[in-house]
Amino acid sequence: MPHYEKHVFICTNERDPGNPKGDCIHKGSAAIREAFKKGLHERGLKGRMRANAAGCLDQCAYGPTVVVYPEQVWYTVPTPADAEEIIEKHLVGGVPVERLIMRTAENKKDPK
Ligand code: FES
Repeated sequence: MPHYEKHVFICTNERDPGNPKGDCIHKGSAAIREAFKKGLHERGLKGRMRANAAGCLDQCAYGPTVVVYPEQVWYTVPTPADAEEIIEKHLVGGVPVERLIMRTAENKKDPK
């Protein structure tokens, strides 16, 4: 069983365009997934870190949804450049990218 230092899941779920829940694929998550895969590959991190497409992660309103394990840091990742920043600062550097951390209705109220 492989053990990854970091395991990134990127929601690539797709719903019908009229569905009020929306989805992550129409917010550009395929390009986000590619950016993570390419970025890890280019840095020679294959085998140590992995990026996988995921189904709905149940945070549809806040997508494109990405979660990084083992820390369970949830992100909203709007662009491939943002994915690059997460690779560099969080996956490699060990420091989560505060500005991209998912702001849900719950944690917006959190005063910290
Ligand atoms: S569709 Fe991406 S979190 Fe639900």
